[in-house]
Formats: sequence, C-alpha cells, structure tokens
Amino acid sequence: MKNLYSGIRGTADLSPSETALFLDIVDKSREVIERFAYEEIVLPVLEEKGLFEKSVGENTDIVERQMFKIEGKDIVLRPEGTAQVVRYFLEKSLYKQHDFHKFSYVGPMFRGERPQKGRLRQFYHIGAEAIGSRSFYVDAELISLCSAILENIGVRKFKLRINSLGCFRDKSRLSSFIKQSLQEHKSKLCPDCKRRIRHNPLRVIDCKKEQCRAVVKSLDFKEAHLCKDCQRDFRNLLNFLEETGLKYVYDPYLVRGLDYYTNTVFEIVSESLGSQNAIGAGGRYNNLIKFLGGPDIPAAGFALGIERIMITLKESPPRYSIPVFVAYSADADSNAVYGILSNLRKSGINCDSDYCGKSLKAQMRNAQRRGVRFVVIAGRDELKKNKILLKDMKESRQEEIDIGVLAGKLNSFIKEKKGD
Ligand code: HAM
Repeated sequence: MKNLYSGIRGTADLSPSETALFLDIVDKSREVIERFAYEEIVLPVLEEKGLFEKSVGENTDIVERQMFKIEGKDIVLRPEGTAQVVRYFLEKSLYKQHDFHKFSYVGPMFRGERPQKGRLRQFYHIGAEAIGSRSFYVDAELISLCSAILENIGVRKFKLRINSLGCFRDKSRLSSFIKQSLQEHKSKLCPDCKRRIRHNPLRVIDCKKEQCRAVVKSLDFKEAHLCKDCQRDFRNLLNFLEETGLKYVYDPYLVRGLDYYTNTVFEIVSESLGSQNAIGAGGRYNNLIKFLGGPDIPAAGFALGIERIMITLKESPPRYSIPVFVAYSADADSNAVYGILSNLRKSGINCDSDYCGKSLKAQMRNAQRRGVRFVVIAGRDELKKNKILLKDMKESRQEEIDIGVLAGKLNSFIKEKKGD
C-alpha cells in the first residue's frame, strides 16, 4: 500500500526553525520593498493555462513541460508571477487610474521540474514589478531593490549578471542570427538545443551543457544586434550602476528562459549554491502588456527564490522563545492554573504551560530547554492565598507575589530585561 505520510516529491516541509528563517526572509524583504514604495498584492494560485502559454512562451521549458494542470480544465497552478500581475493590471484597467504602478508579491509558484537541491516543484517567490515606464532608472531601481533585499536578509556573496536583449526587433534579429549561425554546428549540440534551433534559438545561448557552450562561445554577437536607442539605454544603465556602486558582470550569453523579456535581463547568482545558482532574476518586458491585448505599456521586474536564499544562509535567526512558562504542582487547582495562563495572554504576554500532567521537575526542565526567562510556579498552598512563585531563571531568584499584580510585573520585567 502507498505510504500516505510521504510528502510529494519536490515539495518541502519547513520545520519550526526553518519556518522562522523563511518568515524572517519575508519580513526583511518587505521592510526594504516598502522603502522603495512597491505595494504588495496577493493574487491567486490558479490561473488560465493560456496566460502563460502566451506570455512565458509555448516553446519554453516552463510551458512545454512543467505546468501543473487541473484535470479536465484549462487551469494551471501558476508557474510564475509576472504574467499574473499583468493579467491583474489589465483586468482591472489600472492604466486608466495612473501612468505608473509598482507592485510586489510573495507566494508559492509551481513547476514540474526534476527535483534537486535548490530546484523544487513548489517554491516561493518574492517579486516586484514596475509597470508604465521605459526609464533605465526603473531597471536600476529594481536591481538596487534586489540587492538591498539580499543585503538586509544577510546574503553576503552574490553577483549580478546583466545583459540586454534589445527591443523586440533587436531580439528577433539576434534570434535569426543565432539560428543561422548554429545550422553548421547543429551536430555538436545537445538534443534539446537541436530542437531549440527551430523554435527558440535564443535558448541555445544559455544552455548549461559544455558541448553547447563551446559552440555558442565561438559565435560573436556582443551588443552587435542592439539598435542605437537600446545600446544607449543599456550603456546609460551600466554607467548609472557603476556610479551608484552596484557591481555587475556584463554577460552577453544571458538570455533567460521566459519569452516575454526584451532589453535588460539580469540574474543574481550565489557562489554558495551548486548548479542551481540563481537566487533571483528579472528584466524588462516592454511588449508583454500589448501582446496580451492591452495598451502599449512598458514594464520591468524581478523575482527572488526564497528556498535558494535559505540555502545560502548558514545561520538561522535565533529560535523564537517564549519569555514565560506557567508550571504547577500536581495538587494545584488546574482551573486556577489555566486561568492564570489565559490572563497573562490577555495582557499581551507570550507564554505556555504543560498539558500532559508532567511532574513539576519535568516542567522546569522543559522551561529551561526552551530558554524561558520567567517561570510562574503555581502550588496548591500559594494559590489558596491568591499568590504564586515567580522564578527568574537567569538569576536563579524567586519571590512570592500576588496573582493580581503578576501580569503587570511580568510586562515590566520583560521590557526591562529585553536584550539582557
Ligand atoms: P525565474 O528565473 O523563472 O523568473 O525565477 C526567479 C527565481 O525563482 C530564480 O532565480 C530562482 O531563484 C527561483 N526559482 C525558479 N525556479 C525554481 C525552482 N524550481 N525551485 C526553486 N526556486 C526556483 C521568473 O519567474 C520571472 N517571473 C521573474 C521576473 C519578474 N521577471 C520580471 N519580473
């Protein structure tokens, strides 16, 4: 019989400490995102299949092989957020309200890839999209936001790889050039790339296989396909990045695996990851909104992969610990004990107790293991006098105090001892 307590391959269960790290990453990202004035939106996990076919592209790995479809329906679990944000933008006709919009999102994405370290079938994106401007300052802002988020989270060693695919026309020119140039080298390419030459020649450029890399490296196409305007914008962007101290590596072989990109594309890579070394990626998609039936509005954005960020972080934040534990002796009135616990919580104090009838000694051990600073000890005789013992675990001191003043005292102790 199938084991019913095995998780789905390519999905991850996060333990409490991993969840603490996950939430810490999200909190620290939001802090920075707010500073850059991107407004968070929450969009559904389910979307029309056609949205991704048209935007990400029918001949991309994501659409061809990786989308999770709902049986019998044209609905999929979203593989990415950009197309979805554009769908939302168009559905609500947001371009009629203002010229420029900045959105951010955090949520799960789904791709049926072959699972390995850093490559999951359900993973989380922290993304940002700026819609309505062609200015290269927007590209610079997104890159700077990306790196500020990573710095705030504590990711140290990362590199920005950047390239420009040029406008739609430039990109088509590059695509034809690659297609033509690769014909004579076809036999040296991997089976996937042999197929890509016909449907998606640009993808051959960033194939990771050695044999394909060697062929691509022999072709010379650095910036040659870019029109004057696109060349100027790209130069301006790189100059501005240099002026603001943002280090980058210009990589003419960076093309990205989603069809909607035009002009700037970038990837943030970390040395501490293996083959799946991109912790984030993004770029411009100036034609996507029009392509999906909307007005001619340019846009750009990026997404960071939370699980890959987690792998790069060696240290977890300190585990969440409660400041107060309510312990009791076996003969204490349990209603009074749980009443104290409930009142402390009503007063805003994070606390816990024992629910398994453990001995007082075992409860004290439990409190110690959890790093609790104060233990409220409720004994039968003290409770009768409306009192308890309050023990400061760090200073090994205890005093008898009235239950009526307990919450107030604990609140001021906790405030006083914070960081102590
Ligand atoms: P993407 O490169 O497909 O771009 O994904 C962005 C990031 O998500 C990657 O750099 C990686 O960190 C993480 N990621 C992707 N696939 C997986 C996976 N199977 N398992 C774990 N992590 C993964 C996009 O999705 C674009 N929508 C980004 C964008 C936003 N471009 C413009 N705006």
